[in-house]
Amino acid sequence: MPSNTAAWLTKIVIKTKAVAINPVDWAIQAKGDVIFPWLAFPYLGGSDVAGEVCETGSGVTRFKVGDRVVGLALCLSSAAEAAFQEYTVLRDHMTSHIPNGLSYESASVIPLGLSTAASGLFQKGMLELQHPSVPPKPTGKSLLVWGGSTSVGCNAIQLAVAAGYEVITTASPKNFAYVKKLGASQAFDYSSPTIIPDLIAAFKGKSLAGALAIGAVKAGSNFLDKGPAIACIEVVSASDGNKFVACAGHPPDDVPEGVSAKFCMSASITDDEVGKAVFVDFLPKALEEGTFVAAPEAEVVGKGLESIQGAFEAQMKGVSAKKIVVSL
Ligand SMILES: NC(=O)c1ccc[n+]([C@@H]2O[C@H](COP(=O)([O-])OP(=O)(O)OC[C@H]3O[C@@H](n4cnc5c(N)ncnc54)[C@H](OP(=O)(O)O)[C@@H]3O)[C@@H](O)[C@H]2O)c1
Repeated sequence: MPSNTAAWLTKIVIKTKAVAINPVDWAIQAKGDVIFPWLAFPYLGGSDVAGEVCETGSGVTRFKVGDRVVGLALCLSSAAEAAFQEYTVLRDHMTSHIPNGLSYESASVIPLGLSTAASGLFQKGMLELQHPSVPPKPTGKSLLVWGGSTSVGCNAIQLAVAAGYEVITTASPKNFAYVKKLGASQAFDYSSPTIIPDLIAAFKGKSLAGALAIGAVKAGSNFLDKGPAIACIEVVSASDGNKFVACAGHPPDDVPEGVSAKFCMSASITDDEVGKAVFVDFLPKALEEGTFVAAPEAEVVGKGLESIQGAFEAQMKGVSAKKIVVSL
């Protein structure tokens, strides 16, 4: 009989303690397989989870039973890996320890926002920025994060600053102080009629590292809003440096010559070096040292899995620099 050598991904089982809600959770419920045509029903969802390790795979050395962790639940891969249940399976390299002072509810806001931002910022074929470190290694370059107060944006600002970049962002004026606290050097109102010239002026004389375009999804709004990407394309076209826009939503069909815009996908960092760079090498240390915080703030709307549907409805109405969380 032939013998086989394989590189198995190592996994842990956690008792879930808190989960956070993302637009995609209620969008899959509302639109079914329009978004992910390959999805088979019945389907168990949930990407953001924090909890306590209760079992480890034989190859796992980073975790032991009783550890407090946060991780990206890969609900699109298998039901066992979805967050909205009492126990879930996490992949070792997509999981981080959390400090004792950080509640499960606060920690649960991190994974999907962090992974989406990391995909756009660091993956090959995306912005390909220098990886984050504690402390950061300055690059002298500046990045545009459109939508800094979104869940993805709060993580993107902090990751990019930790990677050594200056971040200029957009948000509503009421969130300017918050995005600056997360590390943005300047914030601009995305609904201002002069937003494009204002941003072009802000990047004048700087070396542009590119842009990450993030918008919001609300029930009844256009799920495929390309506005943030189109705005970022205008800014990078007129600036000096990397004319690349990584898009958390869909890029427009027509992109001017000399500019590239590409959709980034959170879960894809599981399959390359970026997942490990963020969840293993960076996040645990940065959380411990307080150089990275769980953001946006958790808004706990219920306790128990029976509260998930109400939490979907709260997210669907729209949030501002907040993440809807259910305590389990
Ligand atoms: N590709 C992926 O793998 C992936 C994964 C996760 C999310 N996403 C996408 O990423 C986007 C953000 O998701 P999220 O969960 O981070 O959103 P979210 O936190 O629910 O977004 C709410 C925020 O959106 C901001 N906002 C509303 N309209 C905006 C605009 N035109 N430009 C910039 N900001 C605007 C609001 O800012 P103010 O309150 O300051 O006005 C608010 O803070 C969505 O399009 C989502 O589908 C993609």
